[in-house]
This record gives sequence, structure tokens and C-alpha cells, in this order.
Amino acid sequence: MPESTTLRDLFIDELRDMLHGERQLVKALPKMAKAATSPQLRDALESHLAETEEHVSRLEQAFELMDEPAKTKVCKGMQGIVEEGSDAIKEAGKGPACDAVIVAGGQRAEHYEMAAYGTLMAWAKQLGQDEVAALLSDTLDEEKAADQKLSDLAEGGINQAASEGAGESQNEGRSQGMRAQAQQDDDDEEEDQDEEDDSSATRRGATASAGSSAGGRARSASGSGSKSRRRNSR
Ligand SMILES: [Fe+2]
Repeated sequence: MPESTTLRDLFIDELRDMLHGERQLVKALPKMAKAATSPQLRDALESHLAETEEHVSRLEQAFELMDEPAKTKVCKGMQGIVEEGSDAIKEAGKGPACDAVIVAGGQRAEHYEMAAYGTLMAWAKQLGQDEVAALLSDTLDEEKAADQKLSDLAEGGINQAASEGAGESQNEGRSQGMRAQAQQDDDDEEEDQDEEDDSSATRRGATASAGSSAGGRARSASGSGSKSRRRNSR
């Protein structure tokens, strides 16, 4: 950043980062919902997807109020959270443990967003941008509510089900589930790459190759008598 960076510059930079972060979640949430076993968890993820689309639109309104173009800046923090979550879903396979992993990843994303929106709101107020602060406040409230909903679901049965684990026959099915999910995610990542802008396309290239190698590991594990199952049983 130049020496003369102002709080307004920081604010616009952070808005761009969050716009990219929210758009990543718009792509990730349907994949998480698809991988979920619990119907309540699936509903929660789908309703948060609708909210997340609204978060994107509020950020676009914030840019308009600030008289700035709604550009994005690659949000590496969210990229890391989404990548880790996706890998964890592949490793867990379909079943109760997968739901626990989806809640864990979802809550990481929510807390990251809560921190970012808290900062953005404080900066908007300092800049005298009360209308923008009000938009950000609405989003922050929804992120908090989504986080609480995930806690309620985890404590209301998902953690219990995961602690009881899947039977051996479900473990057998798990390898196939991993293979199908890994293949699906590889396909989705290839589609995603086409949609990104130049800077994020470079970064997504790394993501796609990481996703492919994770998929490759999942496939070889399921084909070789399941290293992952041995790891899970320890
Ligand atoms: Fe959001």
C-alpha cells in the first residue's frame, strides 16, 4: 500500500476482500448442503445460502454508497477455510461424521465473517458512513444467527450421532461415497475456474490441483483396501 493509505482506502480494500469471500461461500454452500446427511443441517445451509446471496448484494450496495466500483480482491482467508472444509468432507465420507465436519467448517467461515464485518462496521462508523454501517450490521446479525443455528444443530444431535459413528457396513459405503464426492468436487472446481477473474484464476489453479490430488488420494485409498478407514478406526 502507498504511504498515504487512509482508513477509507483500508475500508474499500476490506470490502473487496469480503465481496470475494461471500462469493466463494455462494459456491461452497450448495456443495456442503449436498454432502449433508441431516435434513435440518441441509435446510440451515440452504437458508444461509439465500442470506449469503443477500450479503453479496448488500456489499454491492455499500460500494455504490461509497461511490466506488464493486471490484473483488482475492480473500485468501476464506479460500483456506473453504479448501480445508472441502478436504475434510471428502475424508469423512457420507454419514454422521460428515455432518459434524460440515458444522465445524461452516462455523469457521461464520466466525471469520463475524470478525471481518465487526471491523468493517467500526470503520464505516468512523468514516461517518452510517448507511453503509447499517447494511453491514444487518449482515453481521445474520452471520451470528447462522453460527448459533449451527451450534444448536451440533449440540442437538449431530455431535451425538458422530460420536456413535457409522457401522462397518456404512464404512464400506463410505469409500464409494468419498470417490463419488471427490469426482463431483473435481468437476465443480473445473467449472468454477472458468468463472473467475485473472488474479483469482491463478490462485484457483492451485486450488484445483490441490483438489485433484486430494481426490486422487481418496480414490487410491478406496481402491487399496482403505487407508482412510484404518486411520479412522485408530
Ligand atoms: Fe455472509
